[in-house]
Amino acid sequence: MATDNMQLEITKIDQSRINSVDWDNLPFGKVFSDHMLIMDYKDGAWQKPSIEPFENLSLTPATSVLHYGQTIFEGMKAYKNKEGEVFLFRPKQNAKRFNQSATRMCMPEIPEDVFVDFIKTLVDIDRMWIPEKEGYSMYIRPFMIATDPYVGIRPSSTYKFMIFTCPVGSYYTEPVRVKIETEYTRAAHGGTGAAKAGGNYAASLYPAKLAQEQGYQQLIWTDAQEHKYIEEAGTMNVVFQIGNRIITPKSSDTILDGVTRKSVIEIARDWGYEIEERKVTVEEIITAIKNNELVDAFGAGTAATIAPIQTINFEGVDYELPEVSSRDFSNKVLEYLNLYKHGKTEDKFNWIVKF
Ligand code: COI
Repeated sequence: MATDNMQLEITKIDQSRINSVDWDNLPFGKVFSDHMLIMDYKDGAWQKPSIEPFENLSLTPATSVLHYGQTIFEGMKAYKNKEGEVFLFRPKQNAKRFNQSATRMCMPEIPEDVFVDFIKTLVDIDRMWIPEKEGYSMYIRPFMIATDPYVGIRPSSTYKFMIFTCPVGSYYTEPVRVKIETEYTRAAHGGTGAAKAGGNYAASLYPAKLAQEQGYQQLIWTDAQEHKYIEEAGTMNVVFQIGNRIITPKSSDTILDGVTRKSVIEIARDWGYEIEERKVTVEEIITAIKNNELVDAFGAGTAATIAPIQTINFEGVDYELPEVSSRDFSNKVLEYLNLYKHGKTEDKFNWIVKF
């Protein structure tokens, strides 16, 4: 892949929009920083990348992504401490997963170091937009779309890679009520479940909407074949604690290999917990709840961070989980990750990129 042409051209905004932001009321994903990065792919090579003022795109209605969904994305965050230093958390992991998604979706890869350099440059230009307030951060959204003006089905020969950023508050503002889904399916073996492909999220909207109408914010997906094994929650991976054991479904081609999930496991192992990454049956989780053995359950994701699960609905019954304040592990890991991501604790695992 050609990487010799990757010198960024930077055009800065004339007048920043930053003063129009209500920093005390930042909904997730609705406020956008001043700049965005764009790089087009054509003739088998990435073209000169640029950073420009954030603005609308102009696309022909025939643009193939609009019809067939050949698109992938990543989600990452930047954090700032009181001294104004900026921290990225494990950005190479996102770069690697982006390329894995690209391969699955017939799209061109981007060298990992170039991907990370782009993120650093864009975030640095808009570093004023990174909130310092506890629980806040800058969400970073790299994505790629197929841009051939062609209505037939085939992998596009042209693509647009972009990154934009948003100052954000929490994705979930309270402990979540989830429903175990046993009719609809998010991903099947051989499908695109492990890729961060737009279509995975589009396909989940209808069953998620049905659950939301019943009062649940999220679904916990089960395997497509038997609806017997727990997979993930779409916006986050899921982690359970029974006794001293931290249990989470093993990543597979139907489960996204989450960076937060991976980090939680590495931390838990370091803290001496027993880790079980394996197939997890719905039955064992429901039995553990009934026997008062399930002490903790939470979602783990970049946007969601560590999101405590308060209620699990299964086959029409609501199972209430232990009080969030009583949960040692998830509270401790949330606090530790917050300190870690703001550079307030030793970078023991070599996860931080600081600038
Ligand atoms: C993320 O956590 O970054 C995600 O991609 C989840 C998204 C659906 C908000």
